[in-house]
Amino acid sequence: MNADGRTRLHQTPEWKALAKHRDELGEVRLRDLFAADPGRGTGCTLRVGDLYVDHSKHLVTDETLRLLRELAAATGVFGLRDAMFRGERINTTEDRAVLHTALRAPRDAVIEVDGENVVPKVHAVLDEMADFADRVRSGEWTGHTGKRIRNVVNVGIGGSDLGPAMAYEALRAFTDRELTVRFVSNVDGADLHEATRDLDPAETLFVIASKTFTTIETVTNATSARTWLLKALGDEKAVARHFVALSTNAEKVAGFGIDTANMFEFWDWVGGRYSYDSAIGLSLMIAIGPDRFREMLDGFHLVDEHFRTAPAESNVPLLMGLLGVWYGNFMGAQSHAVLPYSHYLSKFTAYLQQLDMESNGKSVDREGRPVAWQTGPVVWGTPGTNGQHAYYQLIHQGTKLIPADFIGFARPVAELSDELAAQHDLLMANFFAQTQALAFGKTPDEVRAEGVPEELVPHKTFRGDHPTTTILARELTPSVLGQLVALYEHKVFVQGAIWNIDSFDQWGVELGKVLAKRVEPALTEGAEVPGLDASTKALVAAYRELRGR
Ligand code: F6P
Repeated sequence: MNADGRTRLHQTPEWKALAKHRDELGEVRLRDLFAADPGRGTGCTLRVGDLYVDHSKHLVTDETLRLLRELAAATGVFGLRDAMFRGERINTTEDRAVLHTALRAPRDAVIEVDGENVVPKVHAVLDEMADFADRVRSGEWTGHTGKRIRNVVNVGIGGSDLGPAMAYEALRAFTDRELTVRFVSNVDGADLHEATRDLDPAETLFVIASKTFTTIETVTNATSARTWLLKALGDEKAVARHFVALSTNAEKVAGFGIDTANMFEFWDWVGGRYSYDSAIGLSLMIAIGPDRFREMLDGFHLVDEHFRTAPAESNVPLLMGLLGVWYGNFMGAQSHAVLPYSHYLSKFTAYLQQLDMESNGKSVDREGRPVAWQTGPVVWGTPGTNGQHAYYQLIHQGTKLIPADFIGFARPVAELSDELAAQHDLLMANFFAQTQALAFGKTPDEVRAEGVPEELVPHKTFRGDHPTTTILARELTPSVLGQLVALYEHKVFVQGAIWNIDSFDQWGVELGKVLAKRVEPALTEGAEVPGLDASTKALVAAYRELRGR
């Protein structure tokens, strides 16, 4: 039983019904499903906002989807969803509300945390960000020597890096091309070195992004960035013109030496991996401008409202979450590929890795008991045709079941030359051809009909039945990006709710942080670290020798 008196997930009748259904279905062939239902190609599609979502190429029947929806209802997905939108403290292990949806709520919305409407605070910070972004973009905000800011370097890691870095890349066509915007995350000094080596410190603004302002990588890089700046400008006062902070922790920001007047605030009810539409998006807002940023927020909000209100049968994040449960819990899939056919989405899957894997990489349920079911998948993938010439072979003919999302756009970005825009049809021809080949493969008879010698027939046969979701939009705009991200946020939510895990904490990341701090003196000073295991001790000794210490 769960704490609320409910039966544990794998013992529920709905779970058992799905297991039975899977056994009865036996081998599902997409060719058969399409032959039995000529309307499947149009019938198994949904729309949300600007997104056309085709789920026809999945190893499911109407009955599968019905049983999955019953599982969602029985596991309280909708109740938890409503509690999240209401601002209840559904992140129980950290005793926090989960309100990234408030970050994109309209000005007149009312969302309360502990009796206080948080929406006015959200818009006050957005307005401050817009004012600052406009001043940087117009040249009104200058550096210490009076020079115009031409470079923006975001220093952050995890959610304080991946979101803005991904979105900056995605929306490059909407950015001010006069500005150089870079992202530094790795504590490897090479990252900051490469990001700053060709920049003029007098023209560079550092945006230090850290929810906690205690993350060692970010604080270390920010300290080195300050040293780099002061070496060139020689005056401590320069920090005020060249450093701003994005954080929930004013005390630490002040302690670091950044004037809190130059701090853009957010709140503990915004999870790091759900934060790039908060103040954490400042570097993005400087790049694309406040209006585009607001369009992106509207895109998020549109999908929030869809998730909150659409019936289960047409609720896209619900469907995506349920399909993942089907493959992960009933069909033995271990991973999920996200394959955008857009160069601009080159960082999208990396962003989703944190969103999904940090949220649902859990092995105890909300009550702290080991789960008896699989939880979050390994999320992976890279853009479009590049993957085709690398790892798609394994998806097509390997032994693993890998459900995949294909994301594509009907139009290339407007600024491409006619010649380059013409390449778009070839890109998208690949997009459609891949999902077709993955679904329907090539039978031995089709291979033989091409005159292939018998001994090569097994090698050239494609089984097919590799499930994919196709997400298609007219073009990649700020709003569409917001819609896509919100879709995945809520998909992750649905799965965490069904698995009865806390998708909003990340205790697993803490151990590595603590151990790194403990091991460092062994590397630098050869200090004896109590409790170091034999393998790590030997590795540290080898490192010190190679390092010449
Ligand atoms: O990797 C753990 C983590 O806590 C993430 O959840 C977070 O996004 C990242 O570190 C950065 O944290 P902060 O924004 O506090 O520097």
